[in-house]
Amino acid sequence: MTTLGQDKFTPPQHQGVALKRKMLVTSALPYANGDIHLGHLVEYLQTDIWVRFQKMRGHEVHYVCADDTHGTPVMLRAESLGITPEALIDRVWQEHTRDFAAFGVAFDHYYSTHSPENQALANHIYLALRDGGFIEKRSIEQMYDPERSMFLPDRFIKGTCPRCKAVDQYGDSCEACGATYSPTDLIDARSVVSGAKPIRKVSDHYFFKLSDPRCGAFLRQWALMDGRLQTEARNKLKEWLGDSDASADNSQASSSDGQAIVDVDANASKLADWDISRDAPYFGFEIPEAPGKYFYVWLDAPIGYYASFKRYADDRGLDFDAFTKAESPWEQYHFIGKDILYFHTLFWPAMLHFSGFRAPTNVFAHGFLTVDGQKMSKSRGTFINAKSYIDQGLNPEWLRYYFAAKLNASMEDIDLNLDDFIARVNADLVGKLVNIAARCSGFLIKKFEGKLAVSDTEAMAEFGKAWCGTETLAQHYEHREFSRAMREVMSLCDAVNQYIDQNKPWELAKQADQQDRLQVVCSTAIRAFAHLMRMLQPVLPNTAQLALDRLAVGQRGWDSIDFSSDADLPEGHQIAAFQHLVTRVERKQIDALLEANRSEQKAASPESLKPSNASTTRTGVSQPNESAQSDGNANLPPFIGIDEFAKIDLRLGRILEAQAVDGSDKLLKLVIDLGEAKPRTIFSGIKASISPERLIGKLTAVVANLAPRKMKFGVSEGMLLSAADESGQVSGMFLLEAEPGAAPGMKIR
Ligand code: MSP
Ligand code: ZN
Repeated sequence: MTTLGQDKFTPPQHQGVALKRKMLVTSALPYANGDIHLGHLVEYLQTDIWVRFQKMRGHEVHYVCADDTHGTPVMLRAESLGITPEALIDRVWQEHTRDFAAFGVAFDHYYSTHSPENQALANHIYLALRDGGFIEKRSIEQMYDPERSMFLPDRFIKGTCPRCKAVDQYGDSCEACGATYSPTDLIDARSVVSGAKPIRKVSDHYFFKLSDPRCGAFLRQWALMDGRLQTEARNKLKEWLGDSDASADNSQASSSDGQAIVDVDANASKLADWDISRDAPYFGFEIPEAPGKYFYVWLDAPIGYYASFKRYADDRGLDFDAFTKAESPWEQYHFIGKDILYFHTLFWPAMLHFSGFRAPTNVFAHGFLTVDGQKMSKSRGTFINAKSYIDQGLNPEWLRYYFAAKLNASMEDIDLNLDDFIARVNADLVGKLVNIAARCSGFLIKKFEGKLAVSDTEAMAEFGKAWCGTETLAQHYEHREFSRAMREVMSLCDAVNQYIDQNKPWELAKQADQQDRLQVVCSTAIRAFAHLMRMLQPVLPNTAQLALDRLAVGQRGWDSIDFSSDADLPEGHQIAAFQHLVTRVERKQIDALLEANRSEQKAASPESLKPSNASTTRTGVSQPNESAQSDGNANLPPFIGIDEFAKIDLRLGRILEAQAVDGSDKLLKLVIDLGEAKPRTIFSGIKASISPERLIGKLTAVVANLAPRKMKFGVSEGMLLSAADESGQVSGMFLLEAEPGAAPGMKIR
């Protein structure tokens, strides 16, 4: 058994026994300027399955969420639609709640960050941080749109890349060459909002002093010593805290009484202060005692978890403070995507802790959805809208099952392979699960008025050996190892189907002296089926509900899954006829879905402009952008024709020499043989990623017809190609290499 991604952190035990637990659970708050798509659903379905499981176990769980409504993109989108931001967020709230309901995501409360509770909590937290000495006012210079009289987030400035000269690049990074820079480095910069040339303008900003040694010390304690977080997340955090070189894993060491025995060197903290204010015009909350200054959307977004819970708690007389105050004995979990880890493992716990609240019990991050192995794409139709899935008549429980069958506790990306989706749903849900009821219930209805006989106890005992058992299954759910849980459930389905195959009810039915046996065999299979449906309730709530209704069973808690007892389906119990519980998926339905989602690439305009993911900022710490948004390839450049591509002369070049450049911490000077009379000199900004020794002898891709460029250190006669992760998850640049046998000067087409 591997322990991949499994939590070392054990949930609190009260006086040493696992009593009834109380938990506040959240999923990230989706932005109010876009539709829910299947990528989002990875998260909401993962959380929903977990929450349903915990509720089945009898724990008290409150699952809250909300729309994340503030920020520049919402403001500008409303404007371009000619409506107020309030009208826009109301409309989106309706759409989001409709989509979540359609997929069975059962929030206990779904609210909005644009709420009085959120404003009150944001003010309260901010003032507490200020009084604690964690807020600092500083004057900074930023790009400003003089026509629209507004400061421009990096993503709202476009221009020509200073490195590779690609046109139409964002203010923070180049999608053509991967360079990251400041918007002031862009050539011919212009405002995406008005087209005007941005100017520099100074303004006062408020910062949350994450660099305060108290923050580093607290976060080390919270995340590293107390053993929270997934391994990958913990490593990220160490890196952010400047601890990555620190002796491997002793950060988790603790003495037997639970006291940390590691030296806390708070001064080692490399955390950068966080700019939490934005200037008007901005759609958000004005900062107390700071007219014209607004909380940055990411300041009030996580507070929105508490605001949603506050409203819900107040409405039903629940004690909000008991869950949220510093000494709360209850649990608090946040499910998020890996792109917003920084906000949830640094800012959020620190904000909470230093304003008198409790910090999260744990944060669970998942990976990103790919479709057929690739990033979701509008042109391929794989950027699939939640509503279109429903509109095309596809069963949401197919997707719930498929995601469950793929999900584990790690941060790895998960792939929706469409052929595999069809195959799995049809084989598992239809072929294995539902088939049990289809093969046996008919005989009971036709011949025995739907009445059950006793069970074949021997067979029931055999089933028990065919899988891991209910307690281990529960542990898989608990640890978010849903794919293992689904494998176990399917092994049990296999065993039950084998039993049916061996006993052949269709033959027993023809033999007059085998009627009793027929009733026993079918009753046994149906009881096993009832247990299977209970195990799958968190994943397939509708199907399970339907099935259990037909079986007329009441109590559905986890403890009712018991193969040694016929208690809730006793002898003589009557069941009703089954309709088709789950139908097969057909390839043509998937094709129609893709077709419905296929759209032309639109050039970025304020309406279609959706800021992209995290990227590396000038501070060197991977920090997400303004309104970091993860929506697949919305930012890809428009298509080009083959003629345009043909203009680029790409060739293989052999690196003959490579050396650092005096006075530059980015550049390497390379001498490259392109099969021409004389090798070329090329300067390349890959110093941070690749050491010169490793380059020598490599046969790599070069742009041979880029106009020679005069640089401070000499003339560069071409450009080296390298790959970099736009999302900032993987750092570094990766060189392309030709297969053996290729030679310098060969054309790349
Ligand atoms: N508004 C912020 C979250 C604020 S939480 C205080 C945000 N919104 S989002 O709409 O972009 O994303 C919401 C959640 O969905 C995030 O956890 C994000 O990681 C997740 N996903 C968005 N696209 C996704 C995929 N393609 N795949 C998997 N999860 C994805 O971030
Ligand atoms: Zn570039």
